[in-house]
Amino acid sequence: MTSATARAYPNIALVKYWGKADEEMIVPVAGSLSMTLDDFPTTTTVTLNPSAETADSFCLNGTEQSAEESARVVAFLEIVRALAADHGSALHQRSARVVSTNEGPTAAGMASSASGYAALALAASTAYGLQLDTTELSRLARRGSGSACRSVVDRFAVWNAGTDDASSYAEPVAAPEMAMIAVTVATAQKKVSSRAGMRATAETSPYYPEWITTTEQTLEKMKAACATGDFRRIGQLAETHAMRMHAVIQASDPSIRYLAPRSLEIFDAVAQLREEGFDVYATADAGPNVVVMAEPMDAGIIAQKLAHLDAKQAPKVLLPGPGAQLVAETASDAEGATA
Ligand code: PMV
Repeated sequence: MTSATARAYPNIALVKYWGKADEEMIVPVAGSLSMTLDDFPTTTTVTLNPSAETADSFCLNGTEQSAEESARVVAFLEIVRALAADHGSALHQRSARVVSTNEGPTAAGMASSASGYAALALAASTAYGLQLDTTELSRLARRGSGSACRSVVDRFAVWNAGTDDASSYAEPVAAPEMAMIAVTVATAQKKVSSRAGMRATAETSPYYPEWITTTEQTLEKMKAACATGDFRRIGQLAETHAMRMHAVIQASDPSIRYLAPRSLEIFDAVAQLREEGFDVYATADAGPNVVVMAEPMDAGIIAQKLAHLDAKQAPKVLLPGPGAQLVAETASDAEGATA
């Protein structure tokens, strides 16, 4: 293939990934579990340039990215080219153009890196002549952004931490149907990237060792709650665990805080709804946006009750969505032949 287009969706972690055992390979210190969403997709087309003389280029949401802004995408293309060379594809000598459209609030804690690298992993591997299975694709996406390995998978995914590149990937896990109501507090880019925040937490937060232990324990409890379809238990575990992640991050020196005052108001509003008898729980990734978990039948009314707190748009009800999928491929040219 010389051109391929793929689409992938963000995921929201019920058990969070926060910390790397291997920075270069992005092997995490503990496993995690998430729901892939059915909206806010990233759609990415990778087209191979006729020769390696043209530099790689990256256009995001219609804006051509500078060399600095493209550096992470280019580094990821290098990983794909190395894999293509290993598989004997002659295409690995060619550079590529990446054109991406992201329909979610980029880098504001709505896992745009997850949808982004899951879509890029599938589009780029296909364009470079690779046909990866779900496990291989999850491993590749992980190299771009850890949480992207889970967006390769349909609906609910568990990322087995593993100990190295081969053993660290996500796979499907059965869980009860649930809704995630996105309450958007900000759409601006966050100040501290996940990568920098994780490093600072590991190096300076005194609670980091406990965070690793509690994440491992929570993952086991979450898997058990998913297996029995116990939504209330899933919600309770997810909310407490999210608060623990923000606590370990805030305990960094200097302190890092992703939640905004409005985010905390949403957590309070969710606690209030529980007092009123609704089974609702809140979580937030590394940004100020809050996602409220509810059973699908309650989602509409909960979204209405939270509407006054959403600074940007009406709260958005999201359901379990598909894994990364190919939406178009253009047949290979003569140079596309396997070496
Ligand atoms: O994949 P990254 O490097 O953007 O890290 C994502 C980390 C969290 O979103 C905060 C948690 C998670 O498990 O998705």
